[in-house]
Amino acid sequence: MKKNPVEGFSKYSKSAKLEWIIFNYFQNSENSLNLLKSYWHNDAEIQKLHDEFIENSLTNFYIPYGIAPNFLINNKLHCIPLAIEESSVVAASAKSANFWLNRGGFNSTVISTEKIGHIHFLWEGSDFYELQLFFNNTKSKLLQVTEQITAKMRARGGGITDLKLVNKTDIEPNYYQLEATFETCDSMGANFINTVLEEISKKLKLEIFESNLSSKNITVIMCILSNYSPRCLVKSEVQCEIKSLNFNKEINPNEFASKFKTAVRIAEIEPYRAVTHNKGIMNGIDAVAIATGNDFRAIEACAHAFASRNGKYSSLTHVDITDGMFKFWIEIPLSVGTVGGITSLHPMVKFSHHLLGNPGATQLMCIIAAAGLAQNFSALRSLVTSGIQKGHMKMHLLNILNQLEATEDEKAQIVEYFKDKVPTHYAAVEAFCKVRGIKDPSTLKIYL
Ligand code: MEV
Repeated sequence: MKKNPVEGFSKYSKSAKLEWIIFNYFQNSENSLNLLKSYWHNDAEIQKLHDEFIENSLTNFYIPYGIAPNFLINNKLHCIPLAIEESSVVAASAKSANFWLNRGGFNSTVISTEKIGHIHFLWEGSDFYELQLFFNNTKSKLLQVTEQITAKMRARGGGITDLKLVNKTDIEPNYYQLEATFETCDSMGANFINTVLEEISKKLKLEIFESNLSSKNITVIMCILSNYSPRCLVKSEVQCEIKSLNFNKEINPNEFASKFKTAVRIAEIEPYRAVTHNKGIMNGIDAVAIATGNDFRAIEACAHAFASRNGKYSSLTHVDITDGMFKFWIEIPLSVGTVGGITSLHPMVKFSHHLLGNPGATQLMCIIAAAGLAQNFSALRSLVTSGIQKGHMKMHLLNILNQLEATEDEKAQIVEYFKDKVPTHYAAVEAFCKVRGIKDPSTLKIYL
């Protein structure tokens, strides 16, 4: 069926949007329409709330919401919410939380909370010092125009912390920035920062126009916060005596600590490994970010830029082994909010905040950093001992069996069978065929 472009789709009513998509992409299939509708919330008010989060909303998209209890962070017990589809992540978090619960827990410290935004502009003058002098004389006027929009934030103890002119002409002709730094308290601050920058930029243009500068040719290219916030930084750490790493009869604590340290060292020096290593950390961080209504794309982008800050992509976690002590820590920028955005709207996000004891942004930074460290500990613990597939496939087994449409009884038999074996995809299918009495696995319509 040839597809035609659609005009003004966002203005269609929800039912017209559904009709259009089902007609054009699903041959008017009743089943497809019912599928979309089956994911609607049965409380129309809640559904409307979700529909209004975005444009062209048709339905909801589920991902599981799980919890990892027993997280001892700064001497306080937490039950951490995780929204994630990957089978083994919650199990790994919970395992790590339990492991460290009896070894002092996680110790998290916020190092700094600075956010950054820029007015990127071109100025056609040739003398930076002339522009700098103009900026020094105009700075207070530029800040003054923000008074009203920063009033509430200032009352909460935040606001603009600095505004400076940056010369970027070494990388691009005529390119300058006004760089503003902010304290945004419990909000992530994106809207606040962007509004402030846009206000300052209007005044900047006006002031340049009315100035005695040798060139009044200024082009404001854009006003935008930077999602790279290396000075919104948190550290989370676990530590114990090496002899306490005695969780597995097959590997002695010293050998475990040494293999673990080398695994982290490899991630510190080898980008191919570092990317996977950090991806595992982000499994935990993104899942908590989503559950608490935070922008995980911003957190991801920032984390990876930070991991490259020394010119080479590297590990976000580190290990030290000194005087019989094992120390493992993460340092990561986390720009998160506990107010604003969807935090007071999305019912499950509100639930997550309640579950965490309604933390402020700095407490949430501490919790999320611990979740990332826990995830990395679990991954490395498996990688340097049993291998990752044992735990991963154990959790993934039910996905394979669901794909095969196994009955509850068949699932129970097969899960029991794999209790002491690694369920590879092939082995799971083989076991299923045996239980169901299928002679030739290749007759099954699943991807092997
Ligand atoms: C899988 O989602 C994450 C891991 O690959 C992380 C790692 O290798 O450290 C297990």
